[in-house]
Amino acid sequence: MLILEAQELHKSFRLHERHSGRFGLLRSLLRPAVREVNAVSGVSFRVEAGESVAYLGPNGAGKSTTIKMLTGILEPTGGIVTVAGLEPHKHRKQISYRIGCVFGQRSQLLFDLPVSDSFELLRYMYSIPLPVYRARIEEFAGVLQVESLLRRPVRTLSLGQRMRCEMIAALLHEPDILFLDEPTIGLDVVAKERIRVFIERLNRERNVTVLLTTHDLTDIERLCPRLIIIDKGRMLYDGSLATIKERFATRRQIRFAMPDANEAARIAALFAALPEVAAVTDNHQVRLAYDQRATDTADLLRLALQWGNPRDLTMEDENIEALIRRIYEDDIDLRGEAAAIV
Ligand SMILES: Nc1ncnc2c1ncn2[C@@H]1O[C@H](COP(=O)(O)OP(=O)(O)OP(=O)(O)O)[C@@H](O)[C@H]1O
Ligand SMILES: [Mg+2]
Repeated sequence: MLILEAQELHKSFRLHERHSGRFGLLRSLLRPAVREVNAVSGVSFRVEAGESVAYLGPNGAGKSTTIKMLTGILEPTGGIVTVAGLEPHKHRKQISYRIGCVFGQRSQLLFDLPVSDSFELLRYMYSIPLPVYRARIEEFAGVLQVESLLRRPVRTLSLGQRMRCEMIAALLHEPDILFLDEPTIGLDVVAKERIRVFIERLNRERNVTVLLTTHDLTDIERLCPRLIIIDKGRMLYDGSLATIKERFATRRQIRFAMPDANEAARIAALFAALPEVAAVTDNHQVRLAYDQRATDTADLLRLALQWGNPRDLTMEDENIEALIRRIYEDDIDLRGEAAAIV
């Protein structure tokens, strides 16, 4: 069942810029400098109920703007967006019963009051029956391990503690669609992991549809089999993580140690002379980097043994982090490939 749809979605902002320098304010008032920013320009995708999708892109790509249109906070300047069959900005109230949102940079908890007061307010807003409310709090607080925090004023919580409470606030009314805009930003490894486990369970056990933006690529590996990548407001890729890895994670590294730094430099120079192999040394350590499509790993290993006496040999394939970085840096051109992959 189709649950989210964007068709040729556009959002542009009119930016009023201040002139700088002396009399800048005056000049701005007399002759306002208005610039148009195309935050989202022509994004289209469809998400089925129960999917878990990562919405990725470098800073300023238009991710948050898209989420704001999906949640009805912003009205598109072009195209169509539908969530559970409704246009979000036109049906904000109805939509709010279907969706839950967590924005890593913003809080929906009342800062000076105990966490449980914010939850009470949400119970009232969504008319959640008391026994249902109690059961949900108990379950969610248990999984996220925040039982002992509920009576504490929000302002006294650490970021990780607060974010776990934000997750509960977003889910008290049992939405079937969850929008997460950088839910793990700034958290330590343990807090990140708790949040991931929680999201994973919601998606698997309750079939909650998840759309998530993140700069932490472990989030994706753990949670999202499907990726949508945008840049400068435009679609770059829509497809599986597996396909992108298979297709582009072609770089591999071999590391080994030599008896001393001189030996390391000598063997590195031999490798560096090979076409399309990079070799660097760090003291007695040597690192080779190459593209598996151009260079055979077995050949390199044979040469290493022939040229010296390498120890502690390890091999490493390019991880998703490095891969996505290359996509962002335009080192991998998905535009041409996208049609073939999708
Ligand atoms: N209210 C606004 N007024 C003017 N420009 C805006 C506004 N909101 C966003 N923008 C611009 O739109 C573009 C997309 O911003 P957006 O916040 O959607 O990016 P993002 O992909 O979420 O980036 P990040 O990874 O940094 O969170 C940016 O160039 C940003 O400066
Ligand atoms: Mg953002």
